Amino acid sequence: MKDELRWNKIFGGILGAVLLLLVVRQGAEVLFATKPPATPGYAVAVAAGAGAAAEAVETPPEWGTDLAKADVAAGEAVSQKCASCHNFANGGPNQTGPNLWGVIGRKPGSHAGFAYSSAMTDFSGKTAVWDYQHVYEFLAGPGNYISGTKMSFVGLKKKEDRINLIAWLRQQSSSPAAIPAPNPAAAKAADAKPAADAAKPAA
Ligand code: HEC
Repeated sequence: MKDELRWNKIFGGILGAVLLLLVVRQGAEVLFATKPPATPGYAVAVAAGAGAAAEAVETPPEWGTDLAKADVAAGEAVSQKCASCHNFANGGPNQTGPNLWGVIGRKPGSHAGFAYSSAMTDFSGKTAVWDYQHVYEFLAGPGNYISGTKMSFVGLKKKEDRINLIAWLRQQSSSPAAIPAPNPAAAKAADAKPAADAAKPAA
């Protein structure tokens, strides 16, 4: 019985976290594609989802805050892990993977002269652009995120590595994507949550 309750709690937590992630992602997409709306959609969403414990999943980035304080040089160092397959220079060649100049903001699977997997082509059919959040989730575990991708790379487990890398990647472009306006409320909610969870007495 006690076990059952615990599993209920865990599944509830995961469900809540996934929901929160979806909603936050939607909000980030709106921000990325357009000027920031007067009232960002995700601020409300985060408040609504904050009740659900996100114990099993790390809190998603708040791009306006996280990109502004990211370590671009550290991100460039992380890009060494990609360099065996990707060239990042403007007009550079395709290698094992496609050239990644300007990839943030680019339509997935669209770089000229590269033979993408059908998995990536399918993904492209339902994804307008590689925005920060899509790249972030893809890099965490490419094969998990796009099942059947031919990018055989295990992924970057650390949230910090991915954010720093994306901050650097953003600059490898003739017209870097905009950094959304920071949303201190959302960032604070994300930061405060683990502390609040930790303070909760064990059930
Ligand atoms: C072992 C080789 C390899 C490594 C290492 C690798 N990639 Fe890839 N990458 C690929 C291949 C191959 C594809 C094409 C995937 C497909 O068509 O399914 C790809 C595709 C991508 C795409 C999609 C590009 C587009 O045009 O849609 C991005 C973004 C990307 N890689 C980023 C990275 C980053 C960032 C790293 C380092 C953290 C990395 N990759 C490491 C091989 C690799």
